[in-house]
Amino acid sequence: MMPVCRPVLTTHEAIIPYLKRIDDNQVYGNDGPLLLELERRLCHHFNLEKGRLLCAVNGTVALQVALLALSENKMNNFLCLMPSWTFTATPAAAFSAGLTPYFVDVDKETWALTPEIAEKALKNVPGKVGCVMTVSPFGYPIPTEEWDFFTEKTGIPVLVDGAGMFVEVEFANTPIVVSMHTTKCFGMGEGGFIASKNLNLMEEIAYRRNFGMSSDRLSHFIGTNAKVSEYAAAVGLAQLDDWPNKSQILLEKARLYKEQLSKIRGIRLQPGYGESWFGGNLVIEFEKPVALEASEFLNQHDIETKFWWRQGCHLQEAYRQFESTPLPNTEILASSTLGIPFSVKLSEHEISYICDTLNRFVESK
Ligand SMILES: Cc1ncc(COP(=O)(O)O)c(C=O)c1O
Repeated sequence: MMPVCRPVLTTHEAIIPYLKRIDDNQVYGNDGPLLLELERRLCHHFNLEKGRLLCAVNGTVALQVALLALSENKMNNFLCLMPSWTFTATPAAAFSAGLTPYFVDVDKETWALTPEIAEKALKNVPGKVGCVMTVSPFGYPIPTEEWDFFTEKTGIPVLVDGAGMFVEVEFANTPIVVSMHTTKCFGMGEGGFIASKNLNLMEEIAYRRNFGMSSDRLSHFIGTNAKVSEYAAAVGLAQLDDWPNKSQILLEKARLYKEQLSKIRGIRLQPGYGESWFGGNLVIEFEKPVALEASEFLNQHDIETKFWWRQGCHLQEAYRQFESTPLPNTEILASSTLGIPFSVKLSEHEISYICDTLNRFVESK
């Protein structure tokens, strides 16, 4: 079976020079030199000024830390508006930051929560809103500046759950969290980062990442332990060395998919996919609610598929208890979108086989 996700991270040979440096430094955690170098290099990569990006142990805890900072310690039980069309890490992070998830719908075209949808939802929310979380579906680049305007207009802070983003990221005052989990395009095992142009916010996030403590070892803020060990930073640095090569290969695969899928009537991709951006996973949309049938058809032809976000969060056992607006677009996406294989290892031949099989499926409908 052709796997839907076949992550390939950097090799141990590439990591060894960094591990040797850990032996020499004898520093293993707590903002060690390798972590500081990784943060500096990621800032450089994204053209961000120093201090505007901080790594965290994973994306979920990064979301929690950012939400704690946006909350200013005073939003216990306030609502956090978020799409149901996301991975359950999004509501989990809100809940662990003291917020109550409230699910809203997404845009049909991009599959993301827009400021317009959020503003409309605000008119009928059943409580005080502490924060809005918008989510990048599978790497789609969220227009972050639009969310700065939303905050200016409504006074409500926003966090971008950009877990799937890395290739095209718009930085603004609104903080963004990116995941560096294995399944994401820039994977380092477990890891994530928080970035914002708002330096005051980032300084507070730095404290909250370390139990809310400053140098006096007193907790001035509520925080957690989201710090990254030097060993994890070593993997991140080696991965970053390889990124120009890996990203080029992935972009070529995404382009090839885009070219072949655009010839199949009844299948579409999110705007800009395979042109300016790609993510770690590829999800396609059928014109009709046939994703389940398509999945069975592809599986019969040795192609693995995945419903990455299942039916949305609002239907999952742990999150059914939370309220939501009507979610017609989420329901459409749940029955019409499907994850198909994407990885550096996928050959041109395999991509053609997958697209031919999809074409045969669509023609049979
Ligand atoms: C939308 C979304 N948010 C958050 C996360 C959590 O990231 P991590 O796995 O790094 O904790 C994920 C991970 O898959 C995700 O897809």
